[in-house]
Amino acid sequence: MKIGVVGTGYVGLVSGTCFAEFGFDVVCVDKDAGKIARLNQGEIPIYEPGLDDLVAKQVAAGRIQFTTNLNEAVHNADAVFIAVGTPPRVDNGQADLTYVYQAAREIAAEINGYVVVVNKSTVPVGTAREVERVIREAAPHAEFDVVSNPEFLREGMAIEDFMRPDRVVVGTESPRAMEVMRTLYRPLYINETPMVMTTPESAEIIKYASNAFLATKITFINEIANLCEATGANVQHVAKGMGLDGRIGSKFLHAGPGYGGSCFPKDTLALVQIGEQYNAPQKIVKSVVDINYERQNSLVARVIDAMEGNVVDKKIAVLGVAFKPNTDDIREAPALVLIPQLQAAGAKICAYDPIAMNNAAQVLKQIEWVEDVYEAAKDADALVIMTEWNEFRSLQLKKISSLMRGKTIIDFRNIYKLPEMEQAGFTYISVGRPAIISSAG
Ligand code: UDX
Repeated sequence: MKIGVVGTGYVGLVSGTCFAEFGFDVVCVDKDAGKIARLNQGEIPIYEPGLDDLVAKQVAAGRIQFTTNLNEAVHNADAVFIAVGTPPRVDNGQADLTYVYQAAREIAAEINGYVVVVNKSTVPVGTAREVERVIREAAPHAEFDVVSNPEFLREGMAIEDFMRPDRVVVGTESPRAMEVMRTLYRPLYINETPMVMTTPESAEIIKYASNAFLATKITFINEIANLCEATGANVQHVAKGMGLDGRIGSKFLHAGPGYGGSCFPKDTLALVQIGEQYNAPQKIVKSVVDINYERQNSLVARVIDAMEGNVVDKKIAVLGVAFKPNTDDIREAPALVLIPQLQAAGAKICAYDPIAMNNAAQVLKQIEWVEDVYEAAKDADALVIMTEWNEFRSLQLKKISSLMRGKTIIDFRNIYKLPEMEQAGFTYISVGRPAIISSAG
């Protein structure tokens, strides 16, 4: 079978490459000629563990091509995936579907035989029907069906999540399109992956509802963490006790600085908008959006409090700026909120991130960027852990202590155990757990 993929961003490139790995012939198209040129030179425009090798393997096998020419992706294709961006509109947070409809119109002009047009992008309820209308209007005689097939790829785990998904969701009312989608995902049957076959509207809501629920779960434990701090409880113990209930589950119960990334912030906002549009208010999700915003903006006060109320001319070393580990993505990262606010309070910032520094340097100014943790710790009055990169999990605490000028570590990811920080003599402030005050004062 032949597959076209429109958009070679995070979702399109991973999906196209994985479909090629399944053995299909894939043509990925993008308007960005520079990106296509780099892909044709073997350069991967995004950081996703394992993607470079997987793309190289498919290119060598002649199963994947990259082009700016849409008709190469559409002609004689069995399915064409729309995987273009749906960024939040600045004015109201609604998903901006400009690129989706533009792709639909351009695909319509190239259809030369029955094809399934698949919405892979995260789109509001009703978009599949609208894409169908747009294509029908542009190509009244074209033979096609439109399907909603939302992605559930986590950054840093995208290939794993594509190859071993918890489920594949397909929204269509066409048995012919259903058959094509079953064939596309047949290689997953080996792992007995459940396929949820439903209507386009249900498929579109499954995506938003899943992300919003995960964001809600995180925000719930973040608020419980506040209660733990006020009562001397330990949020990690609370999360463990909760998570052992099979109905709750232990995942996404790690208290932290608030969720970020290119999905949860965008999708929760969009769901609130969709609720308003259909007069079905999503009040819980609205409060999740507000609480998460407040939490990210409360981090600076936590750091200043830990520094006895004053960070003027203090050197603060920030470990991690990516919104999560194993990605170079800094979109909506809590560090992008905290760092400017610390600078505004008079602190001097030194920062290190294993992968995301180049991206962060585009938006953060007056930062001393360094190449490793110990360089960051040198003469620092405080260390702030913002991203739980593995290399931050086993620091040589004695070396850190000898390099720092101060004794304060603020760990927004609860990477360390309290006793080891007490033993190392740090003042250790973390999330939802009792503070450790250094014996050295
Ligand atoms: C998410 C969804 O998981 C994925 O299914 C969807 O397709 C895209 O959005 P992603 O945004 O890549 O994936 O990251 P994820 O691992 O879900 O984390 C999202 C945010 O929540 C990050 O900022 C992370 O730090 C935070 N998080 C996650 C927590 O604060 N606590 C947790 O327990 C889990």
